Amino acid sequence: MASEKQMKDPLRVGVAIRAQLQHEIPKDLPLEKDFREGTAYTITDHVIELHKSLVKDPRNLELINALVSHLHTFARETSLNHAEWTKVVEFLTRAGKESTDYKNEFVILSDILGLSALVDELTHPKPLGCTDSCEPGPFYYPNAPEIPSGSSLAKPGTTGEPMFFYGTVRNTKGQGIRGAKVDVWQADGDGIYDVQYPDSKEVNDRGKILANPDGTFSYRGILPTAYPIPSDGPSGDLLRALGRHPHRAAHIHFMLTAPGYDDLTTALYPSHSPFLGTDPVFATKKSLICQVVEERDPKRWKEMGFKDGEVSTGRVWVWNFDFILASVEEVKQFGRGRTKAKL
Ligand SMILES: [Fe+2]
Repeated sequence: MASEKQMKDPLRVGVAIRAQLQHEIPKDLPLEKDFREGTAYTITDHVIELHKSLVKDPRNLELINALVSHLHTFARETSLNHAEWTKVVEFLTRAGKESTDYKNEFVILSDILGLSALVDELTHPKPLGCTDSCEPGPFYYPNAPEIPSGSSLAKPGTTGEPMFFYGTVRNTKGQGIRGAKVDVWQADGDGIYDVQYPDSKEVNDRGKILANPDGTFSYRGILPTAYPIPSDGPSGDLLRALGRHPHRAAHIHFMLTAPGYDDLTTALYPSHSPFLGTDPVFATKKSLICQVVEERDPKRWKEMGFKDGEVSTGRVWVWNFDFILASVEEVKQFGRGRTKAKL
């Protein structure tokens, strides 16, 4: 541990520091070593040493020193010059200025650079055989109404083609889970979420379904369609500069909870959707892509709960998926195994 010395002469300072000194004495350290690029002691070593002397929280120290180390390596590897770094700073400044309550450019940047997807995987390690997770996205609303299994999530008149979704919430042994709750939210047939409609106060295309005791559940709704993430700001410019597009594949979001089981936030994608392989936020995973089939028999529509005349498109899209949740204990053991493998 480096020695901590108080400031040599706190009175030989300007007015701003004198004002601060009324509350605290900043720590000072002697400058014992000079740093220079290309030598055995660089600015990276110096910043890291300084943090080691001053930062108390070990996790904060680990995070900031790893960040500094990787940022400096990035600059060295690319021979980053002043003009380029100024452009980056201007870009980040724009991202801050153009962020609003409804559109955070930094969150979008994290998403389009794959960092959000990586952090999600690191935070929610899944034992083999469990349903993959992905980020909830910006349109989750925690107070969606509770609806009984088998009912409709879409209000009459919602744009889009009718869909029937059914599935089971299972454990890794294949047994249906008792007491599972399925929170569902999705865009309509125009690729728009209820909260995106101006002045819309009506909850639509979302709800919390209590699964049956054997883990099964179903609902009627609208087949979702693809929609773009916001691309009118600096992150949109970056996507275009990289030759990428902002369009997300069609999907339905799910958040599943059950007593004794690890929560699962995920999304499912129909295999017919465009943009599955070029998802701007890297949330599509092969295991979450489903074959959705058309049902053209009105007798079957009735069994699904559609009323006479409700289906005007001549077909109902039928979507089936079984979700596999890990128990809290399985996740703990899996986490312990991964830590051992790392050591
Ligand atoms: Fe979404």
